[in-house]
Amino acid sequence: MKIIKLGAVNSTNEYLKKYINDNCIKTSHIVYTFNQKKGKGQRGKIWHSDPGKNLAFSMCFFPKNIKAINQFSINMLVSLFIINILKSLKIPDLKIKWPNDILSGVKKICGILNEVKVKGNRIENIIIGFGININQENFENLPNASSLKLINQINYDLHSLVGLIIQDLKKNDYLRFKSKLNIKKISRIYHKNLYGTDTFINFKDSDNKIFQAKIVSVGENGIMKINTSTGKFESYNFQEIQMILN
Ligand code: BTN
Repeated sequence: MKIIKLGAVNSTNEYLKKYINDNCIKTSHIVYTFNQKKGKGQRGKIWHSDPGKNLAFSMCFFPKNIKAINQFSINMLVSLFIINILKSLKIPDLKIKWPNDILSGVKKICGILNEVKVKGNRIENIIIGFGININQENFENLPNASSLKLINQINYDLHSLVGLIIQDLKKNDYLRFKSKLNIKKISRIYHKNLYGTDTFINFKDSDNKIFQAKIVSVGENGIMKINTSTGKFESYNFQEIQMILN
C-alpha cells in the first residue's frame, strides 16, 4: 500500500480519485492530510475542518470479489473498522449512525464518504474517505459535532493516531479485500453497534415531516427498515430520510 501524506489539500477523496485516473493506478493507496480545506461530505455538503486539528484520510481499493449490489457491506466494514480504532482510544459510548457516521453519545466525531465506481455488476474501485474530529474544540453552527479532545480531554498526537490507523489497516484482511467478505457476520456486528435500534429517535422525511421510530434493520443494499411510534413498518434509502440527533 503506497502512502501519500499531503501538507494541505482541498479533498483527499478528490485527490485520490484524480491520482488513480491520471496514473492508471490499480493497487491500494492511502492519502491523508491534517489540513483539508474543502472536504466533501455526504449529500453534497461540505465537511469542515480546522487546519492542523483533524485527520482527513482516504484509501482506494480494487476489490475483485464484491458485487455492486453488496456495496453497502463496505460501508458496514468501514464503520466497524473506525469504531474499533476509537474503542482502542477509550472513546465512550460509540455508535454508528446510519448509514455510516460515528457517534460518541449523540455527538458526531467521524464522517465517512465512500465513492464507488461500478462496472457492469462489479465494483471497479472504491474510495473510502473518512474524517475524524480529533483536536478541534469549536464547531460553529454544528451543534451535534464533537471531537476526541472534547470528549476525552486529551490533546492527541495526530501522527501517532494516523500510525495506529495504518497499522490496524495492514492487519485487516477484510477491509483490504484480501479475504472473502462474510456479509452475514459483518451485518450482525454492524447492527449491534447501530444507533437507534432500542429507543425511539426522531426522523425527518423528504417532506420535512418529523416522526419517531426505531430502526429494525439495515439491508445489504443499505435500505433501512424502521418501526414508527404509530406501529407502522417502513423502508427508506439514504436519500429519503434523515435522522435527527437529540
Ligand atoms: C459526512 O459526514 O458528511 C461525510 C464526511 C466525509 C469527510 C471525509 S474527510 C476525508 C475524505 N475526503 C473528503 O473530501 N471527504 C472525506
